[in-house]
Amino acid sequence: MWLPSGCTCKCVVTFVSRRVFKARIHVGVRRRCNVAAFMPEAAGFDGVSDYAALQDFSVTSSESFWAAVARQRLSWIRPFNAVQDCDLSRGKIKWFEGGKLNVSVNCLDRHVHTYPERVALIWEKDEPGSEVKVTYRQLLEMTCRLGNMLRRRGVKKGDCVTIYMPPCPLAVASMLACARIGAAHNVVFAGFSAEALAERIRDAQSSTVITVNQGVRGGKLIELKKTVDSAVQSCPTVKQVFVAMRTENPANLTARDVLMEEEMMKEDVVCEPAVMDSEDVLFMLYTSGSTGKPKGLVHTQAGYLLYAALTHRYVFSYHDGDVFGCVADIGWITGHSYSVYGPLANGGTTVLFESTPIYPDPGRYWETVQRLKINQFYGAPTAIRLLLKYGDEWVQKYDRSSLKTLGSVGEPINTEAWEWYHRVVGDGRCPVVDTWWQTETGGICITPRPSEPDAEIVPGMAMRPFFGIKPVLMDTEGKVLTSNDTSGALCIAQPWPGMARTIHNNHQRFIDTYCQPHPGYFFTGDGAYRSKEGYYQITGRLDDVINVSGHRIGTAEIEDVVNQCSEVAESAVIGYPHDIKGEGVYAFVVLKKAVDVKGADLSKQLNNMVTTKIAKYACPDHIQLVQRLPKTRSGKIMRRVLRKVVERDLNGLGDLSTLDDPAAVQEIIQGHREICGKQQPR
Ligand code: WT7
Repeated sequence: MWLPSGCTCKCVVTFVSRRVFKARIHVGVRRRCNVAAFMPEAAGFDGVSDYAALQDFSVTSSESFWAAVARQRLSWIRPFNAVQDCDLSRGKIKWFEGGKLNVSVNCLDRHVHTYPERVALIWEKDEPGSEVKVTYRQLLEMTCRLGNMLRRRGVKKGDCVTIYMPPCPLAVASMLACARIGAAHNVVFAGFSAEALAERIRDAQSSTVITVNQGVRGGKLIELKKTVDSAVQSCPTVKQVFVAMRTENPANLTARDVLMEEEMMKEDVVCEPAVMDSEDVLFMLYTSGSTGKPKGLVHTQAGYLLYAALTHRYVFSYHDGDVFGCVADIGWITGHSYSVYGPLANGGTTVLFESTPIYPDPGRYWETVQRLKINQFYGAPTAIRLLLKYGDEWVQKYDRSSLKTLGSVGEPINTEAWEWYHRVVGDGRCPVVDTWWQTETGGICITPRPSEPDAEIVPGMAMRPFFGIKPVLMDTEGKVLTSNDTSGALCIAQPWPGMARTIHNNHQRFIDTYCQPHPGYFFTGDGAYRSKEGYYQITGRLDDVINVSGHRIGTAEIEDVVNQCSEVAESAVIGYPHDIKGEGVYAFVVLKKAVDVKGADLSKQLNNMVTTKIAKYACPDHIQLVQRLPKTRSGKIMRRVLRKVVERDLNGLGDLSTLDDPAAVQEIIQGHREICGKQQPR
């Protein structure tokens, strides 16, 4: 893959020693309660003398808080003239209106002025030991070349470019090149199938796609260009596909394809940044909801960037010179906010992880930590649970003394995994931050840090709201629960700059999903428990969305695919607790009359269908053939009952009298027992 000359060895990263860093925080917040030392942006806040007061100020004087932070942390072409103009009940969310800026300038140019040779990206390629470092100067050069290339090839302000690439410098430069010329990007996780990609390209109306010839992951080649070829067949909007060469194997080019590296080399290294309004679209990112159709959440320029930068700095206690290691793929919001935008806006050094937690062996993460001297490691509970099973030796083999903060994201982290992460990976000396947030929230909303250095963290709890976030719990009647030691639907009571603004092409769906359930509040779709002390613990989704290995998927999306199988009459898909994946996929399937198919054949067929229409991670772990599904008299499938059967909580089945045919349940229980005897769904 093309990189600017002199890329690997000349880069210097300066490290701040752990002791200096700890002392700074310690003196700053705990002893002298000097808020301005902890957070320079807070210097002018009246009456704010300790952390708790700062948190309080950020919520009660939200406009003053965000105005000060936005002025100081971002670089503006023209200052904003209104901090916010929001009406949550109508889905109107606007921050920093009148302000003009360019996100790529904020992420690159301003750092190039001060430290051009600082490493921006460390590309941790699949093969251990083959990492590539890219400085800010080099990343700006790549971005400018790509920006010029896109402009010359007709991409305009307001267009949307789809990026289907694994984590690599050219993927980041492509995102930033879009930001530079004012185009939106739509990064599609490179594990999605051709059909899933096509659906997202069509919905985003992209005329340009950027991809690589092949991906490399876990020692295997992945035919990404071929997937794009098959996707664009059903995407009439696509006029051009840029192909970067990740491997040396030739790509089979068609008339539509352009070799990206060849093309960008023809371009100038200076690219005039577009002047963008705060509320212009920066990107859209598709995520699953409770219907079969994924939604393109839209994030805008200033508010998103500010929120990503501020959370990156304070949740992880990221300091200048640290190496930040977020191992999420850039195809998810975690990769957007904490591999790309947050760290780069802060002038940080960020790792792009191309591999898997177990390639070439289960020591991969910690060997990478040792080699790259990672200071903050941010990963998913599913990987922690998997590695825990391989034993402590794989961790202890490697020097992890560079680590200062450990982060967890994407799904609840169980106590066992939390404790192992803390005790074994972090040698008991690094705070573990269990960060709760969503594609919709843009950045972390509930998290143990920032706070005074020694403030309590309860294992498995997301703990406290971030600055500017006011969480509330709602009961089923839509009343705000004010007491502690209680559970309810998690909502956020006031807007914050990082929140999504709309669903692409479907603002009504945005309003219906997030603003209508509890007018005036942002509805997250998650349930939460608030402890006696007022700490938050996320209890899981309230809708038909499940979380498989930290990947979000709507059960309706899987059902749509299963129902397309010619033998299937109908189906119901639910999530069930799974040791490693967090949740597994369990499909109840009713076959058409007179169909004679073996369970194993059907299972193979359905897995193939789900893999080609969605992605591998969405494949059912268990398929149970049933005669009928439990339904209400009005014909609605009672998934609650199915969940209880799979969780073996027969006492929790509840009132079955509303069922059309209660006998269906007995049959399902019996069938589930038989499956449990043979396999072991928990
Ligand atoms: C859903 C959002 C957050 C970025 C990656 C996933 C679940 C996320 C936690 C956590 C418990 C969590 C929620 C949320 N979730 N973080 N720390 N504890 N649950 O983003 O794909 O938009 O999924 O992931 O259910 O709603 P996403």
